[in-house]
Amino acid sequence: MYRNNVEVSIPADDIAARVRELGQRITEDYRDRRLVLLSVLKGSFVFTADLARSIDLPLRVEFLGVQSYGDSTTSTGVVQITQDLTKPIEGEDVLIVEDIVDTGLTSSYLMNHLQHRGAASVKLCALLHKPAKTAVPIDISYLGFTIGDLFVVGYGLDAAQRYRNLPDLCILKE
Ligand code: PRP
Repeated sequence: MYRNNVEVSIPADDIAARVRELGQRITEDYRDRRLVLLSVLKGSFVFTADLARSIDLPLRVEFLGVQSYGDSTTSTGVVQITQDLTKPIEGEDVLIVEDIVDTGLTSSYLMNHLQHRGAASVKLCALLHKPAKTAVPIDISYLGFTIGDLFVVGYGLDAAQRYRNLPDLCILKE
């Protein structure tokens, strides 16, 4: 049973409660704005689906494919866009939705990149932040949880593309 290989770190109920709180804050902050949730694939697809439904605004959802790790567990520092936006984001208030900020290289690159593409504003919402690994200054406007230097899977996060479907955030056992 593959679940014997994992240990629950943040249960699904705790994630759901935190996501609802973030959604309420975003709803208040983006009232009368042109909110676009920019989901950074693949890891943030689960978080984006829950977050979008906890925001009470007529928002737009866009997806950007980014690969920064490959199947390795450490950052290469190379950010590659694997799937681009289908519509321009000029004049829109973009909120980047990330599952995790680790070194910060991906989010930092994307924030600059989207500003250059003419977004009216660019902010970052991340479910997880791993400060032990963070290498560049990064402003996370909406943060779910701060975690230690552990390799986590589930709720969208993978180990070599597996485990994204686990409802809880889990630690992979050796
Ligand atoms: C993860 C995560 C972020 C990035 C964060 O993506 O989704 O995009 O790494 O790391 P950083 O802060 O060190 O840049 P990953 O490359 O694992 O791809 P995935 O989302 O497809 O799993």
